[in-house]
Amino acid sequence: MSGCKKDSKTPSIDYSEDRRPPPALTRWFARRIVAWQRTHGRQDLPWQRDPTPYRVWVSEIMLQQTRVETVIPYFRRFMARFPRLEDLAAAPLDEVLQLWAGLGYYARARHLHRAAQLACTRHGGLPLDLEALQALPGIGRSTAGAILALAGGRRAAILDGNVKRVLCRFHAVAGWPGTSAVARRLWQLAEWHTPHRSVARYTQGIMDLGALVCTRRNPHCDACPLAARCRARLEDAPARYPASRPRRRLPERHAALLVLENARRQILLERRPPAGIWGGLWSLPECPHRDPHALRHWCREVLACEVEILHIAPEIQHSFTHYHFHITPVHAQLTHRLTHPQPPADRVMEGPHRVWYNVDQLQRQALAAPVKRILQRLLIGTPV
Ligand code: ADE
Repeated sequence: MSGCKKDSKTPSIDYSEDRRPPPALTRWFARRIVAWQRTHGRQDLPWQRDPTPYRVWVSEIMLQQTRVETVIPYFRRFMARFPRLEDLAAAPLDEVLQLWAGLGYYARARHLHRAAQLACTRHGGLPLDLEALQALPGIGRSTAGAILALAGGRRAAILDGNVKRVLCRFHAVAGWPGTSAVARRLWQLAEWHTPHRSVARYTQGIMDLGALVCTRRNPHCDACPLAARCRARLEDAPARYPASRPRRRLPERHAALLVLENARRQILLERRPPAGIWGGLWSLPECPHRDPHALRHWCREVLACEVEILHIAPEIQHSFTHYHFHITPVHAQLTHRLTHPQPPADRVMEGPHRVWYNVDQLQRQALAAPVKRILQRLLIGTPV
């Protein structure tokens, strides 16, 4: 570590100040990143080939909260099915959700679909304009900037999680980036650092640097092109930046998800409401009770079904941003229908939100990842 290490109590720069880094420093910063990207950055990600605004946009949305390695096969399948914006706009939402199933955060897919339709009708394509892009659902300031910079070579700043980390460390910006004062300061810095030339390579470079070198844990400062002038490194405290979100306990929710099977080897699926978790996806009926007596009573009252409980599996936990969901998977057999006659073969709608679905065809449905896992576990041997 450097000899000019500071006392760990030395205050970092005050992010509420609007002080602008000297132009010589911002030029140095951009040049170092651009040169590093050429030799060490990622060069052949699928969205870097033919980086049209549409392909860059889809990749940026998929990459929100999701790792590159996870996104690659989803991106390829998505582009094979929807090669152009118009193909996406014309597709049924169900098909989009189906290609998204497993990536999580399904609001992204709904917004993508809606935004494609709006872009076609409003602009006849994706607009190459910061404001018009941000007026589309699901496109924030950083995504709009990334589309302009990566696909259009336009000078536009981005500020995703990786870039925030690089800037927080380089300038020793204190405070949690989720607060508006810190976010404002980071946007200022992001704008000031964005160069006029080689903006696409710079943008890819600063993202790559955050992902590969300036990592959240154990950053590789020795390999960093910015190390010589990085404030966090000079303080010998990269882990201090960015500050973490103040801790808050997330609420816990408990429910049973019911794999209810009938004599025709069909299971009852339920479509989730458009807003909220797994919005628009097909899921399993969700019962607030977990003991067999209450479960049977609930099935009678809500599903109009007499059931036999076959198996109550161990609880699984799935965490959302706002709560932890404790799921008890329950396998049950339909014994008697209380209102309708026997369901006919194949699939049968039970009102607008429920359907009896053939177990063998489940892989065709847009199911949330935990629901898939439950089905795999309870209906052993069924490829879902
Ligand atoms: N994360 C967000 N955008 C990215 C990109 N273009 N390449 C790699 N990771 C990213």
